[in-house]
Amino acid sequence: MGYLFGLIGYPAKHSRSPWIHHHFLDQQHERGLYRIFETSPADLQSTLSSMKQLQVDGFNVTVPYKEDILQYVDTLDPYAEKVGAVNTVLYQDGEWIGYNTDGKGFVRSLLEAYPEVDLSSCKALCIGAGGASRGIYTALLEKNMTRVDIANRTPERANTIVALNDQHTPSLAISLEEAEKSLEQYDIIVQTTSVGMPPNDDQQIISLANVKKGAIVADIVYKPFETVFLEDAKQKGARVLHGHGMLIYQAALAYEIWTNTTIQADELLRKFEQQLK
Ligand code: ATR
Repeated sequence: MGYLFGLIGYPAKHSRSPWIHHHFLDQQHERGLYRIFETSPADLQSTLSSMKQLQVDGFNVTVPYKEDILQYVDTLDPYAEKVGAVNTVLYQDGEWIGYNTDGKGFVRSLLEAYPEVDLSSCKALCIGAGGASRGIYTALLEKNMTRVDIANRTPERANTIVALNDQHTPSLAISLEEAEKSLEQYDIIVQTTSVGMPPNDDQQIISLANVKKGAIVADIVYKPFETVFLEDAKQKGARVLHGHGMLIYQAALAYEIWTNTTIQADELLRKFEQQLK
């Protein structure tokens, strides 16, 4: 029979997830299918009922349902509960368990690219205060970083994220202007907004004039492969982390949850890079 996995979202038909998960199935010599369940909000409930009846072994959740799905899962992993969003659901003994692998996927891509980095001695800045930033912030806090700040155009949204902090890690909500001025203090800077993505692909969220040489500058935007933000970071002597790593590793973590195996994702990452470049 093999596994049946899926993705629910709207729109979802152009997702790369089937390509990624079929690669993982091949790698593990498993039979299975990863199917897209593109579903409009009006049909969400009935599609989810069908997926439960079909006993889909596991599925991903994407825009705009990462929060809506909370009311449909039977159990919530504590980390997903903290983030307040689910991107991965596991079917186990007739029940759905909700997880979130987005932020952890980012951290894994960071550590795969820069294994020498000791996060506990680093200061990080997340730029943006949407769902992506929330997940990355929570995952970074779990790594006992020296500090994790959030900069956002709308300060109230950054305050909401900082309020999630239940660790002893110092953390401030700051403006984009403050971030530009104080950039030199950060070892890791993560751009989580859509600025840099078409049609805004000629824009960059903040100036990197004050970035520290050797700092790691990440952008979660992966189309274009290299955003103007990352081009600028390279010119300023920073190290860069491209956005597709997070996409691949959040998928790898989801596959690991569904199948209770460990995935080697670096080869797939290189293949994906070749396609994007
Ligand atoms: P997601 O859940 O995908 O992260 P989101 O909730 O829409 O998306 O959040 C988008 C983020 O990009 C927000 O931090 C938003 O800033 P505001 O909170 O001030 O709206 C940020 N953003 C989007 N376009 C921006 C722009 N042109 N300049 C600055 N920030 C921008």
